[in-house]
Amino acid sequence: MKIMIVVGARPNFMKAAPLMRAIQNYGGQRAAGSLADPSDSVRAVLVHTGQHYDEAMSGSFFVDLTLPKPDLYLGVGSGSHAVQTGEIMRLFEQVVLSERPDVVLVVGDVNSTLACALVASKVTYDGDGGRPTIAHVEAGLRSFDRYMPEEVNRVLTDHLSDLLFVTEESGVQNLLSEGIPEDRIHFAGNTMIDSLLASKEKAEHSSILDRLGVHKNGNGTNGNSRGKYALLTLHRPSNVDHRENFSNILHALDELAAVGPVFFSAHPRTRKRIAEFGLDSHFDFDEMGGKNGIRILEPLGYLDFLCLMKHAAVVVTDSGGIQEETTCLGIPCVTVRENTERPVTVTKGTNVIAGTNPQKIREAIRMQLQGRKNASAPEKWDGHAAERIVETLVTRVREEKLENAHK
Ligand code: UD1
Ligand code: UDP
Repeated sequence: MKIMIVVGARPNFMKAAPLMRAIQNYGGQRAAGSLADPSDSVRAVLVHTGQHYDEAMSGSFFVDLTLPKPDLYLGVGSGSHAVQTGEIMRLFEQVVLSERPDVVLVVGDVNSTLACALVASKVTYDGDGGRPTIAHVEAGLRSFDRYMPEEVNRVLTDHLSDLLFVTEESGVQNLLSEGIPEDRIHFAGNTMIDSLLASKEKAEHSSILDRLGVHKNGNGTNGNSRGKYALLTLHRPSNVDHRENFSNILHALDELAAVGPVFFSAHPRTRKRIAEFGLDSHFDFDEMGGKNGIRILEPLGYLDFLCLMKHAAVVVTDSGGIQEETTCLGIPCVTVRENTERPVTVTKGTNVIAGTNPQKIREAIRMQLQGRKNASAPEKWDGHAAERIVETLVTRVREEKLENAHK
């Protein structure tokens, strides 16, 4: 059985790495078993679309997550939604037709996710007229905001998929209410959290805190009397592609930046906007003097970022994955968005949805710094989601093959 796993953008790598490992382990166990049979083997083929391509947005994660090099690299690069999605589809169709995978497995909600699911749903293999089974990992999440490009990708990918692996209970309800048959839906847990739990200890050896002049226990160097720092990421088009919205959010962080350093891992989209909108004056952090303020950093490697997140006083973000990771680490998170597709991070976790009004953001940050929310790990975020997914996937695809053989 050939399972083709698609990755394209930064958050895909953490979600895919445990699946690659689980497939390798599954194949290994079978081969070692007394009933070893070549027809029983399961193998993964990793396809990277190249939606993200900078070393800091792609290459570094292969090292940090010990992901094998992609078997196939499509090199699509950046473009408008239509251009990028179309180019991925054009190239991925050729790959699917020549490789003939049994399964195309897509993760998350980026353009690569939708493009590859759409291709897989319409290809027809020569000879048997079949097509690959489509599996979506991280299915069912809904922000109910169709202005968000990811929401469009999520809804369409789910409706194209044969097997839907869900990270939290809300996802199951969302899919059922959209009419997806129950037997396609599997509440398996969160593979991004599998990566987090597998990498947490390793991340402790990162030198990032020393490089930034802060300490694990929150006692800063370079004269930071308060000694605590905050971590910031922003990249949602609704926040950074409009000058006024972006500027308002940065103003809302003034109070936080006055009491300690705010480390801002800036996504390339965000960097571009800072230059275009002339917002550089917000970032007056004096590296030598160690004074407070917002300090822009290049996008960080996974282990460095985990380490910085794990010891932050608060994380301010509009990222989807970071809402989940802070919940798991028990770190207060303020989400600068009007909604979340990950409600369990609020009901069970450490997340507060602040919206984008500056006053509301300030209040949420104050509240999060004053007292931590009582948080507990969401159901099945236990580090074993990928194993459950691979077991279900292999069983279901085998059953389907047997049924087809008997027709
Ligand atoms: C994409 C995903 C988003 C995800 C984010 C994770 C879609 C629709 N969006 O958004 O869901 O949260 O990735 O990080 O799929 N760029 C570089 N180098 C790179 C990649 C991008 O400079 O390696 C720049 C380019 O100028 C590009 C811009 O960033 O135009 C945006 O990249 P794109 O992949 O279109 O969307 P993201 O904002 O990264
Ligand atoms: N991340 C990282 N370095 C950074 C910022 C984020 O390694 O500088 C990781 C983060 O820990 C999480 C993932 O990237 O695993 C989230 O990706 P992103 O915020 O780009 O996308 P989203 O989750 O919003 O789709």
